Amino acid sequence: MSSIENTKPVAVPFEEIEKQREYIQLVRSIIDRQFAEPPKAFVHTYGCQGNVSDGERLEGMLEEMGYCLVDELDGADLVLYNTCAIREHAEDRVFGNVGALKSMKSANKNMKILLCGCMMQQEHIAQKIRKSYPFVDIVFGTHVIHKLPEFLYINLSKGKKVCEIPDEKGVIAEELPVHRDSNFKAWLPVMYGCNNFCSYCIVPYVRGRERSRDPELIVAEAKQLVEQGYKEITLLGQNVNSYGKNPDYGCNFSELLRRINAIEGDFIIRFMTSHPKDCTYELLDTMASCEKVAKHLHLPFQSGSNRVLDVMNRRYTREKYLDLLGYAYSKMPELSVTSDVIVGFPGETYEEFRETVTLVEEAKFTSMYTFIFSSREGTVASKMPDPVSREEKGRWFRELLDAQEFIAAKRTASMVGKTYRVLCESVSKGGLIEGRTQGNIIIEFPADKSVIGTFREVKVTESLTWILKGELI
Ligand code: SAH
Ligand code: SF4
Ligand code: F3S
Repeated sequence: MSSIENTKPVAVPFEEIEKQREYIQLVRSIIDRQFAEPPKAFVHTYGCQGNVSDGERLEGMLEEMGYCLVDELDGADLVLYNTCAIREHAEDRVFGNVGALKSMKSANKNMKILLCGCMMQQEHIAQKIRKSYPFVDIVFGTHVIHKLPEFLYINLSKGKKVCEIPDEKGVIAEELPVHRDSNFKAWLPVMYGCNNFCSYCIVPYVRGRERSRDPELIVAEAKQLVEQGYKEITLLGQNVNSYGKNPDYGCNFSELLRRINAIEGDFIIRFMTSHPKDCTYELLDTMASCEKVAKHLHLPFQSGSNRVLDVMNRRYTREKYLDLLGYAYSKMPELSVTSDVIVGFPGETYEEFRETVTLVEEAKFTSMYTFIFSSREGTVASKMPDPVSREEKGRWFRELLDAQEFIAAKRTASMVGKTYRVLCESVSKGGLIEGRTQGNIIIEFPADKSVIGTFREVKVTESLTWILKGELI
């Protein structure tokens, strides 16, 4: 596992990317010989948008190698699970799904099973896969996703299993092919890794040190997306507020937002995740003044108790958090704030948990992702005494959800009668069009499918707790 110190990020050398392009061609020729029609590849990504973005690059490389991407597992010639390690539940799901592939593989001996992503970056997991799931062909860590063509070539040409999990500080691989899942919403990573080592979190161990992409490349990619017709660009990083610190490009996150905002075109900019310790008034002022930046701030607070925040190693206080929100709401009265919170951190008392509830009541989040603490091997919190039972934590969890539900319902009710500019995204189960407001609240309304991928004015006619109903103007 990586150590804490900062290091200069290493770009994957141009020659290495070129070498992978050659492997793409080699795999292509093997596939052309072996298959009458393009083999089917099923890729599933778990976890955060950063991982989804990696998944789009893995898909891009598979496509270039001659695979046809499919949505159905049945009949796939290649299955790739891009995994997440954030909580135990995420890992259990992967083990379950990999186990289920065994019978598929006995029916189709040529089927290839590949595992990558954050979970695989952990040595104890890789060992368990080797021991208990010997039918898996290729396992690789988060720092070598650009080497997928080489791994496949070795496996297809020599029949050898591959397992490559280098323990690196992290690299940046530019210029990989990408298969975007949507043609109007795009993920745009601005940085990788994390240096914060919140005591409960596995991310810094599996994603390496924080490293920012060159702003010139980010702006160029954003321009290209806008030219291709993308309507929403989401900038990604575990802590976007420290963008540009390592290496120092002379461009902080606010400046990056301003540069992307200056690109001509009709599109909106989102970003996540912001860390309260690095969130500045400058960022909030920039959000307020940049017309293309959605007035939505995802600002995880994790706990309302200063003692718990301290042992979580979050490095801000409840007061600082509420001050940031106060400033943000004063600059952007319509701002929608969402957050993440952990219930039942080791040693948290009921009184401390109640401080989380009162913070939620004060903060007026539009929605919140609530998690019960999950112990992650190798983290500091995994060694802390954790006396509160799972049942008790479950009761706290429901108490918190009830508090948030009441607030969310009030918020959505206050939107009835108003008109919002909405990006139309998909068709709901009930046959309505589903879109999102700038504040990231889902709104459903009757309309023709042809509106998907465009901005429309929608008037809110009804509020359910978390979502809105409306009509096209
Ligand atoms: N970089 C982001 C969070 C990424 S992980 C940030 O710092 O805000 C997404 C969320 O998962 C976290 O905000 C946290 O609420 C939750 N999480 C992370 N590790 C967890 C753990 N061990 N148990 C429960 N929830 C966890
Ligand atoms: Fe995890 Fe904290 Fe980094 Fe977020 S900031 S990824 S919670 S260590
Ligand atoms: Fe999961 Fe890795 Fe993201 S642990 S949340 S996929 S960075």
